[in-house]
Amino acid sequence: MIETNITKMFGLKYPIFSAPMGPFYTRDLALAVSEAGGLGVLSNVNIVGTDPVKEHKASLEYMIEHTDKPFGLNFLTSRNNRGVQEMCTDVPKMLLNNQRMREQCVYWLTSAGSSKILPASKNFQELREKSEVKHFHVAPAVWLAQKCVDAGVDGIVCTGGEGGGHQSYEKVSTLVLLQQLNKAFPDLPKIACGGFATGEGLAAALSLGAGAIAMGSRFIASKQSEFHEKYKALIPPGEPQDTALFTGSFGPIRLYKNKYALAHPAPQSKEEMIAYEKSLTLEQMAKDAGAYDRVYNGDTENGAVLLGQSIGIIDSIDDVNDIISRVMKEAEAAIKRNHSMLK
Ligand SMILES: Cc1cc2nc3c(=O)[nH]c(=O)nc-3n(C[C@H](O)[C@H](O)[C@H](O)COP(=O)(O)O)c2cc1C
Repeated sequence: MIETNITKMFGLKYPIFSAPMGPFYTRDLALAVSEAGGLGVLSNVNIVGTDPVKEHKASLEYMIEHTDKPFGLNFLTSRNNRGVQEMCTDVPKMLLNNQRMREQCVYWLTSAGSSKILPASKNFQELREKSEVKHFHVAPAVWLAQKCVDAGVDGIVCTGGEGGGHQSYEKVSTLVLLQQLNKAFPDLPKIACGGFATGEGLAAALSLGAGAIAMGSRFIASKQSEFHEKYKALIPPGEPQDTALFTGSFGPIRLYKNKYALAHPAPQSKEEMIAYEKSLTLEQMAKDAGAYDRVYNGDTENGAVLLGQSIGIIDSIDDVNDIISRVMKEAEAAIKRNHSMLK
């Protein structure tokens, strides 16, 4: 048994979260992770033709229909994400009107934009007063964590540059970031994210002040994840250097190096990203907009394949229950091993 501030906060058996992985569906994955004793997170689904609020409603209904365990959801609060205001207004309202959702959907994670948008929503304020929901935001640097603290978050997700998907311009590694954030905000609840796939990683995160880890790539390579079989198949043979930073919808993004990625070199600053967006022709925009849909449908060469360096430490596609029990067993062994060094 490993008990931490995060397992206690959310009533979890294990300090393991699934990372949100929009624009893709992660309903079955979130369900499997929550059922296995971790905390599963629903993604902000917005592949072409979807309505993000309706998708969240369907995801929430799916979860309460299939589990009585706690779970979470993610909103991307980036300036150019579709439907942010509607999500912040309408989704809390859904929970105010539904007791099961209110009691189970306890973890609200915002990312890729401002940490202030969700707490500014009157409906979310009312939800916070009337329930146990907690608001976390992804903090990839100390100065961004300070903004989260100023916005009144209950905790932060410390995601370093080795993680899969969108990244900040800071490119700080998870190892350094965790130590910086632990020093700057010793009492703030933290979830470590980016580069985790093993029990040794979990044990290290706990030593560095986190109360849990969140894993993305590790859970893509699971039997329950909704990702295309061709996407999953890239992971076990993958090496950390098969991924790098490129240009994504909201700035730099860690992708698997394929034809699509190599045609989208990474922006070095926000100014460079804005200039790039301005330079795009309508034809290019239409082509890039399909980058996620193509991958969702199995074209792993001409679309954006989001993966982290952690693919280098993932050897197989496994059942979520087996992943979680293996990580826990390894973490406990690592902690005991470390403890035995004390003389
Ligand atoms: C396919 C994919 C999609 C992602 N989409 C999101 C997202 O919608 N919101 C978010 O906050 N992070 C997103 N991320 C980042 C993950 O939440 C997490 O930070 C990352 O997977 C951690 O690195 P790891 O893959 O080494 O575990 C995504 C990552 C991947 C791999």
